[in-house]
Amino acid sequence: MDRRRALIYSRISGTGSFLPEKVLSNRDLESMVDTSDEWIVTRTGIKERHIVAEGQTTCDLAEQAALRALDAAGLKPSEIDFLIVGTTTPDLVFPSTACLLQHRLGMDGISAMDVNAACSGFIYALAVADKFIKTGDSVKALVIGAETLTRMVDWNDRSTAVLFGDGAGAAVIEASDQPGILSTHIHASGGHADLLCTEVGVSKGFKAEPGGGVKVRMKGSEVFKVAVRTLGQIVDETLAKNNMTKKDIDWLIPHQANLRIIKATAKKLNMPEDRVIVTVHKHGNTSSASVPLALDGAIRSGRIQRGETLLLEAFGGGFTWGSALIKY
Ligand code: UT7
Repeated sequence: MDRRRALIYSRISGTGSFLPEKVLSNRDLESMVDTSDEWIVTRTGIKERHIVAEGQTTCDLAEQAALRALDAAGLKPSEIDFLIVGTTTPDLVFPSTACLLQHRLGMDGISAMDVNAACSGFIYALAVADKFIKTGDSVKALVIGAETLTRMVDWNDRSTAVLFGDGAGAAVIEASDQPGILSTHIHASGGHADLLCTEVGVSKGFKAEPGGGVKVRMKGSEVFKVAVRTLGQIVDETLAKNNMTKKDIDWLIPHQANLRIIKATAKKLNMPEDRVIVTVHKHGNTSSASVPLALDGAIRSGRIQRGETLLLEAFGGGFTWGSALIKY
């Protein structure tokens, strides 16, 4: 029998993450915009965020996270057969960040692609890689969420400037005869595009200035309400698909945008606070990097153990949202 066909599951074999060195604290922001540490902590839970250095790119961050994930999985880059990067801040329009990274790591020839699902980018990328493994087209996949969101932050807009940070997270997933990724669920609803977007892009409104005038715009409180409602729904969908109840989840690994949104989802699941992975205070909203950053941190610190059941979820611009239920 084709050995690939016998390996019908995909499992996480290693994770890695990376944050750029420079830290911007809430106090630093107080001297940049009309805000306060007290407002930011109370409304978002964020205390500091990491910012890329001059010349440092999304691919640079992705590379470091990828190398750490490969090391954790005990694999060389040449053993990977599928590479997917969730990002909304690619180095270039093309080649994709995945192609740039593929060449850097010496993995030329394998499939490499970016997926743009904003903050849900890692969950989307994981869903795609999981399908490639389950159909037998891939055996060892490298899945990354990497962003340099601060490159398109309007530092004069206090409603968004305090929220975002840069970073990358990665996971190696491999074909297995044991259950790993139990299910993934991804959705989108383009009707809310104006609530969280860049008003300018390559084929619309591009300006003759650094960055082309691309800036994040968000109607925060409206996004907040949809996020809480939608994440609650996807939790139900994920449990129902797997015939599971809230009690079966060991860890919630949510998108790290706002502590109040995280707490609302945790409440819906009746999850005690010590079973929810929270890293938003350390790096703010890193978009598609946020879930794998939280996942890797909790695995490396020994909180998440093999055999435990993890619920990953994210919500972002588009709107996009998604979840993954994983037997780690
Ligand atoms: O990752 C993708 C998905 N994104 C999200 O899930 C983010 C969702 N939204 C949020 O996290 C929250 O809505 C925010 C953190 C963005 C804002 O919190 P909020 O509690 O919804 O505040 P708000 O936008 O309703 O603003 C409340 C007040 C306003 O002042 P007035 O009108 O009440 O006088 C704002 O002008 O807070 C003011 N404000 C600030 N004050 C100090 C807004 N930003 C700031 C700031 N510092 N940085």
